[in-house]
Amino acid sequence: MIDLPQSPARLVAPSILSADFARLGAEIQAVEAGGADWIHVDVMDGRFVPNITIGPPVVRSIRKVTRLPLDVHLMIEQPEQHIAEFVEAGADIVTIHAEACLHLNRIIAQIHQAGARAGVSVNPATGVEVLRWLAADLDLILVMSVNPGFGGQRFLPHTLQKLEELGTLLDSLGHRPLIEVDGGVGPDNAAALYQRKVDVLVAGNAVFRSSDYASVIRRLHHPTGQ
Ligand code: DX5
Ligand code: ZN
Repeated sequence: MIDLPQSPARLVAPSILSADFARLGAEIQAVEAGGADWIHVDVMDGRFVPNITIGPPVVRSIRKVTRLPLDVHLMIEQPEQHIAEFVEAGADIVTIHAEACLHLNRIIAQIHQAGARAGVSVNPATGVEVLRWLAADLDLILVMSVNPGFGGQRFLPHTLQKLEELGTLLDSLGHRPLIEVDGGVGPDNAAALYQRKVDVLVAGNAVFRSSDYASVIRRLHHPTGQ
């Protein structure tokens, strides 16, 4: 199981959903050279979300071209049926959706038993309360700032208030999993996210649709004025 930094941290996880899939290895090596901390892998099943993306064979191939942790975001129903396969393929962090699982504690334990770090994600309309009885067992909480399914969507502003509620909840519990935000993140809202104790920024379009990956990753690590 990989070591994770303590919160507060500032990690940047480019989402390969916005990369050129025909040149995926080169794209991943370019963001690694540009200072990325993790590689964020979006797995979609056409059921939990409207889109379909990639599965374990692609994770296995990616594993060979980078030493960075693979942060695998499962936007799929019944993730418990696929966790072992993703971890065997090379996933270091496996994040499931609260909305997709009936027995979250059991599935978190399953991820740990498989040898990976465990995260739980909440959609924009899901409150933070669902995390109360999970937080002690989690390595990561992923707050979606768009409705999952596609890259390039607009950041939903209520996410900022939700992050404040999450901070209050975690303080009251005395637990500090890493907090990650995903969707519509870029250099313009990174400072507001760090102010709300976010540790990991996922960025798809902001990185891969730019002409200078390293410059965007640098600005995500150090937004203006920070
Ligand atoms: C959305 C995915 C995100 C997405 C982020 O469903 O989970 O990881 O790729 O892309 P941007 O940064 O373009 O919103
Ligand atoms: Zn994602």
